[in-house]
Amino acid sequence: MMTNFSWTKQWYPVTPISYLDSSHPTPITLLGKRLVIWRDKQQKWIAMDDACPHKLAKLSLGSIDQNGDLMCRHHGWCFDGAGKCTNIPMLSDEKALETACKSERSQVQIYPTQVQQGLLWVWPDNSSNAVEDSTLKQPAVMPEYKFDASSTDWYMGEVPYSYTVSVETSLDPSHAQFLHEGTGFYPDKTLAMQHFEVFGEMSAEDGFTLKHSGFNVLNKDMDATRKFTPPCSNTTIYEFYNGKSALFQLYLVPTKPGYCKQIAKFIFDVAPQKRNFWFELLPKHLQIGLKHSSSYQQSDQDISMLHFRPISELTENKTW
Ligand code: FES
Ligand SMILES: [Fe+2]
Repeated sequence: MMTNFSWTKQWYPVTPISYLDSSHPTPITLLGKRLVIWRDKQQKWIAMDDACPHKLAKLSLGSIDQNGDLMCRHHGWCFDGAGKCTNIPMLSDEKALETACKSERSQVQIYPTQVQQGLLWVWPDNSSNAVEDSTLKQPAVMPEYKFDASSTDWYMGEVPYSYTVSVETSLDPSHAQFLHEGTGFYPDKTLAMQHFEVFGEMSAEDGFTLKHSGFNVLNKDMDATRKFTPPCSNTTIYEFYNGKSALFQLYLVPTKPGYCKQIAKFIFDVAPQKRNFWFELLPKHLQIGLKHSSSYQQSDQDISMLHFRPISELTENKTW
């Protein structure tokens, strides 16, 4: 069944706010579009085309000027959070400057943004009613859960395999036992899943829910519910028969062909970890890297297996 689904009229999480530095612009790619993220003088996170209207230089190579505007590195043109040009240093004539700044050709296209649950969300549509449309739809945020979601950080990484392969893999728990050996999974503890079924309705707007049972001797008494909400949210709730449970929130963000960004958080009901004085003396980025080392290891394992897929798809019938 063919359904109309607008890929651009959607909210996408593009980065945890904790990964951004408000003192300089950050480049990102979403649906093949190059964007620059920065924070303006109203403290609002801005997403705009990463191309200066003067000569298409990357605005993400620029800087935030003393007025809180984004200054292009190439010839110093400045832009505010609405994408309006605010200065052209080589124009000294007031009237000419005003005319040039007001010109539509000096504007940068901006996109609606919002911050929810510590993530920056972008609506990558540039039609004239984008702002209004974006208010009619809510981002697929993590559902309310019984444990404190703020106690764990978001993990983020970009992998060299496509969005489609990423979504498929996120709904394939059977690979964990084998590919993720060494990160808490063991091939010799595998059990065949007894249940694996789509539950309820399925639609392009609301996605679908998948329910499955455990797949190894350690989680055989588990029920897992995976809810996929287009375009990129996959929420899994694991319920164990000893009363424990866990939530895994994963976002699969299509960045560009053959690449996908993964943003994830795992929340489970163990006692909060004790603070470690020595660990907290390490630089923040090193602390985050160490806390997520097992996620990075699993991501490397997935890359080793999945990166070849887009390459073989491209080269399959190619005559050299
Ligand atoms: S290219 Fe940006 S100011 Fe010239
Ligand atoms: Fe995996």
